[in-house]
Amino acid sequence: MVNGIQIAIDGPAGAGKSTVAKMAAEKLGFTYIDTGAMYRALTHKALTDHIDINDEDAMKRLLLHTDIHLLPSAKGQAVLLDGEDVSEAIRTQEVTKAVSAVAAHPSVRLLMVDKQRQLANNKGVVMDGRDIGTDVLPHAQLKIFLTASVEERALRRFKENDGRGIHTSLEQLQADISERDRADSERKASPLRQAEDAILVDSTSMTIGDVVEKIRELAEERMVR
Ligand code: DC
Repeated sequence: MVNGIQIAIDGPAGAGKSTVAKMAAEKLGFTYIDTGAMYRALTHKALTDHIDINDEDAMKRLLLHTDIHLLPSAKGQAVLLDGEDVSEAIRTQEVTKAVSAVAAHPSVRLLMVDKQRQLANNKGVVMDGRDIGTDVLPHAQLKIFLTASVEERALRRFKENDGRGIHTSLEQLQADISERDRADSERKASPLRQAEDAILVDSTSMTIGDVVEKIRELAEERMVR
């Protein structure tokens, strides 16, 4: 690959993966690919069309008839679902609560992974998700496992919500995050785990800027090799 390397960023919910991945991609001039947004888009469509998210066959059929596009935008990335911009709609509590069940279906994952590999083909990419280093891009030149304590992740989400005028209880956020960690780590199909060759970055006491800088340095090292 002449123009860049593949960077995989995995980790639990709320560790700051997408913010960091977006900024690192911008600094390096790479394409950012938010794989969680793809699972969210499918989940949003199922909820809108009243499809049972626990019915694996129905979800696979739905995905086969669904067009998901990720486009660069001023905010980092726009998500187009069958041509419609759903960038905001896929972030609701309803979608967030339902998406783990959708992402647990092996046949849905197979199709998604295939699509994600095509998106990463032959260019510099920063891709974030749960299984990027372990499954989607096993040969990525740089793999980061980004984590932070449950308390810190809940606090970050609390502040983010507060800034948007949404008032939530910190205890509830901690409970939700712990539950998503459990669902994503314990599922049978590609559970969340750190790849053997991934670098662990604990962002609990790091700023976003610190994490982005660390990733940029590691990427530059790998590019000159
Ligand atoms: O990162 P996120 O919160 O947008 O992810 C949404 C859900 O999708 C989350 O429950 C984990 C799942 N996911 C996954 O299983 N594999 C990925 N590569 C990305 C996300």
